[in-house]
Amino acid sequence: MRILTGLQPSGGLTLGNYIGAIKQMVKYQDEYESFIFVADLHAITVPQNPEELRRNIKSLIAIYLASGLDKDKNTIFIQSENIYHSNMSWLLECLTPYGELGRMTQFKDKSLKHQNFGAGLLTYPVLMASDILLYDADFVPTGVDQKQHVELARNIAERVNKKYGDIFKLPEPLIPKDGAKICDLQDPTKKMSKSSENPKGVIYLLDTEDVIRKKIMSAVTDSDNEIKYDPDTKPGISNLINIYTSLSGMKVEEVVFKFKDSNYGTFKRIVADLVVETLIPIQKRYQEIINSPELDKILDAGRDKTLEIARRKYLELKDRMGLGR
Ligand code: TYM
Repeated sequence: MRILTGLQPSGGLTLGNYIGAIKQMVKYQDEYESFIFVADLHAITVPQNPEELRRNIKSLIAIYLASGLDKDKNTIFIQSENIYHSNMSWLLECLTPYGELGRMTQFKDKSLKHQNFGAGLLTYPVLMASDILLYDADFVPTGVDQKQHVELARNIAERVNKKYGDIFKLPEPLIPKDGAKICDLQDPTKKMSKSSENPKGVIYLLDTEDVIRKKIMSAVTDSDNEIKYDPDTKPGISNLINIYTSLSGMKVEEVVFKFKDSNYGTFKRIVADLVVETLIPIQKRYQEIINSPELDKILDAGRDKTLEIARRKYLELKDRMGLGR
């Protein structure tokens, strides 16, 4: 069985990215054949500064390794270094109804945020489908925000298989039970996102200990002062419970029971301790890895291996569609 996921190298990674995607990959790397990549082609669907983008790509690779993804258990690569992702995307774009893409919620949100956006913002989920389908991935670990895109990939695969014969495996999203959507600490009704206007609500993986503690201590909560899990009426405290649950490996009910007599201040401090305990060792390893020549070796190996796999799948569909000689 194979799992695959990608993260965009657009700015600092957040605790949401870690819990929704990276931590899951670490958890499953012993069980599945694992592929993880840097989705740099997805990043350019909105404007990017070239130097910053290049730095962020390298930084993301170092984060993967520092978070515990083992280079021998994962194939790690950069999306744009494998030409078959864009090639496959073109074939699939021609097989995907325009209307279906216009209905994607992420497209609707992002197209409102950016003026004169490029066509890539619309076709973004088809590139994502290509990423997944090229490798016959069984499962795609992601946060809940990417569920619709993985379902689209599955629909595209079904349609193509029906028309051209069995080519693609049908992928399934793998969404963590408790960390599916980590929310903004200042506005807990919104997802924690790199592109948030208020950095106080977002924990970046490379934030200092001091900053992490301050952000958690000033997280917005209600005034009940009762540790209870109810995302609808108590989104702030439920978000902190989710963070604690995801990082501790405990169940929501266990966490609520354990802290039922604590007040919000005490609970926030305990959540902050756990986030710091999780992120500081990652940051230490990150500093050791970021300038290591080992990164290039890992990426070369990932590129060569995935070019072989992706080429075969791409040629199969290209051939069945009657392209070329
Ligand atoms: P991206 O870069 O926006 O996010 C990377 C991963 O982090 C998860 N995530 C969250 N999970 C929980 N709470 C949050 N607040 C939170 N914010 C982000 C996302 O669900 C995602 O799993 N399109 C993808 C990248 C991609 C991809 C792929 C993923 C490209 N091709 C193929 C899987 C398979 C994206 O933009 O993720």
